[in-house]
Amino acid sequence: MTKCILATGGAGYIGSHVVTELLDAGYRVVILDNFENSDPDVVRRIKRITGRNVSLVTGDVRDRGTVERVLRMYNVDAVIHLAGKKAVGESVADPMLYFGDNLNGAISLLTAMKGAGVSRLVFSSSATVYGIPKTLPVTESARVSVTNPYGRTKLIIEEMIDDLIASDPTFAAISLRYFNPVGAHETALIGENPRGIPNNLFPFVAQTAAGERDRVQVFGGDYDTPDGTGMRDYIHVVDLAKGHVAAIRRMMSENETGQHRRINLGTGTGYTVLQVIEAFSKACGFPIPYAIVPRRAGDAAASVADPSYAKQCLGWRATFGLDRMCQDQWAFNSRVQAAEKMPPSRTRPNGKMAEYSPLPQPPLVAPDRLHH
Ligand code: NAD
Ligand code: UFG
Repeated sequence: MTKCILATGGAGYIGSHVVTELLDAGYRVVILDNFENSDPDVVRRIKRITGRNVSLVTGDVRDRGTVERVLRMYNVDAVIHLAGKKAVGESVADPMLYFGDNLNGAISLLTAMKGAGVSRLVFSSSATVYGIPKTLPVTESARVSVTNPYGRTKLIIEEMIDDLIASDPTFAAISLRYFNPVGAHETALIGENPRGIPNNLFPFVAQTAAGERDRVQVFGGDYDTPDGTGMRDYIHVVDLAKGHVAAIRRMMSENETGQHRRINLGTGTGYTVLQVIEAFSKACGFPIPYAIVPRRAGDAAASVADPSYAKQCLGWRATFGLDRMCQDQWAFNSRVQAAEKMPPSRTRPNGKMAEYSPLPQPPLVAPDRLHH
């Protein structure tokens, strides 16, 4: 019988790519999402990309009754828990919002899983649990130290899972500690389009390239990195999604019972902010304006994963490089911009035409990946 996976938050940026990869790998999938940070249209797009059906339940993971009913009704074998809030700055401004949403979501889900006898979990954790890393690359045994309430929720949930497994060794879980997920699906049908001003570098660079922002503000030029700007381990969201399929496969094996593994998902290569801007300029075909401004509070100089445990344990490694991440992000933003009928990208906010070569028109879809 085909295994069924529940993806909480499956309509979100990472979730939509995870669901796509699960369907491509032959799993049945149910999405539970309240659409507080996504659009139901994403589900139609996933069907279009994969040619497969996906079940959708519109609901809140904090509603234990709903979660338990979904687990039973769809005969769910394993859960990938992505639902939650993720903005670091917002969590500092309103910690109780983050504790209320993220912690209650996890409590509700784990209680429902116990009630329904579902004992396999993949949890979306984050490299934020390493705080400011002391040594690079960061291995899973590095000291954890959170610097904001969002990160604290990730750490507390990991620890909640430890305690649950200690009390019930029939459970098994993998917490995937994502480094910096970026890019979009090759069809440009799903990707990240944050509402308002983006907090993260990639969407900000993409919106600047699209003429929606004047210039990229580079937070700090005096870090101890090759060019003085912050360094991160960017990972293509499709690589990241494939890591979840590998984690599900691993967890389904009997001898995982009683284990809670923490696994880094990163590439092992770091790029600076200026290297990202340069690669993105290459992808879109014109220079992206930027200015170096003071450091952003709380930022690490550098964060790069040691991905060897993921290779050893899941047989997984990232395959896409920075150029591909930029190309796919740009194709996605261009499609969204065209769909929203924004002013042409070559017109700068000051009304002047930039001295750029004509915008390459990315294909709206890759026809060989589409199903009608
Ligand atoms: P996202 O906001 O795009 O996706 C989250 C999804 O969960 C959205 O569709 C949202 O509507 C849904 N959701 C939120 N609260 C819910 C609730 N109470 N009940 C049901 N659905 C709910 O975020 P993302 O970037 O796809 O992140 C997914 C997960 O990965 C999050 O847990 C996030 O903390 C974690 N993560 C993300 C990053 C990153 O850089 N994007 C890095 C590390 C970890
Ligand atoms: N940066 C800029 N300008 C911007 C935005 C970012 O220079 O407008 C810089 C940052 O200073 C940093 C790098 O670009 O050096 C990456 O910043 P992001 O905000 O894109 O990513 P972070 O590494 O700060 O944080 C992200 C997520 C966190 C998550 C962490 C680890 O936002 O939730 O990765 O996974 F915890």
